Amino acid sequence: MKKVTVHGVTLATEDRGAGSPLVLVHGFPLDHTMWEAQIESLSGRWRVIAPDLRGFGQSGVTEGTVTMAQLADDVAALLEALEIREPIVLCGLSMGGYVALAFWKRHVGRLRGLVLCDTRAAPDSAEAAAARRQTADRVLREGMQVWADAMLPRLVGPETRESQPQIAERLRATILACDPRGAAAAALGMAGRPDFTAELGGIRCPTLVLVGAGDAISPREEMLSMAARIPACRFVSIEGSGHMTPMERPAEVNDAIAAFLTEIRGSGTATGS
Ligand code: MLT
Repeated sequence: MKKVTVHGVTLATEDRGAGSPLVLVHGFPLDHTMWEAQIESLSGRWRVIAPDLRGFGQSGVTEGTVTMAQLADDVAALLEALEIREPIVLCGLSMGGYVALAFWKRHVGRLRGLVLCDTRAAPDSAEAAAARRQTADRVLREGMQVWADAMLPRLVGPETRESQPQIAERLRATILACDPRGAAAAALGMAGRPDFTAELGGIRCPTLVLVGAGDAISPREEMLSMAARIPACRFVSIEGSGHMTPMERPAEVNDAIAAFLTEIRGSGTATGS
């Protein structure tokens, strides 16, 4: 992996392939390895950048609160450091989708398109935010096992749990390897993230909204109504998958992203907000 320092923190990133850039942003509390199948397949035709966000994987950690806007600014600075000047397609799963929406808000001129996977535009409810802050506190005292126990049952769908148990095991290992300070900081950032629902109509770049039909964290119906608000949007729902669609149904996800990238190739930089 490449290592670059941005905003005082070292970020580790995969940078594979050549061609138009596709940036893959992982979910919480994971790292770039959740995109292994996409990196492998899509780097044959595109330049695939898959960073570990600040606080995760092999990247440096900052304590306190790390907002989605900060993570989006880190991605923009990473592009600078890698000397990527042409517009990118930014694809984020769940927390990565929150970062993608913040990136759209703050760096729209750098976007050719968006892929929003298993994510939400709505913020945490007051209760959800309070519970998240409490869990962050516990994790700082007791370690990542707390988050592994809380999240794993909801991350993958029942079909995947049954037919591919190794996926849940891989996720468990990634979660347990995460630095509690990095995870807690991003969790506090997620708890305070803004509501993007009313802004979705302003997204002018081509967008793909993709969801596992059995997602227990970002439900299909909610993503469908998100997609309906975005003007140039294609919606793909993948049967037999829970929240971790790129890992649970890699072939379908690769096909959907490849078709989207092929369709929008050359459609130019997004303009306006
Ligand atoms: C994720 O997969 O990134 C998380 O489930 C996001 C969240 O907790 O809101």
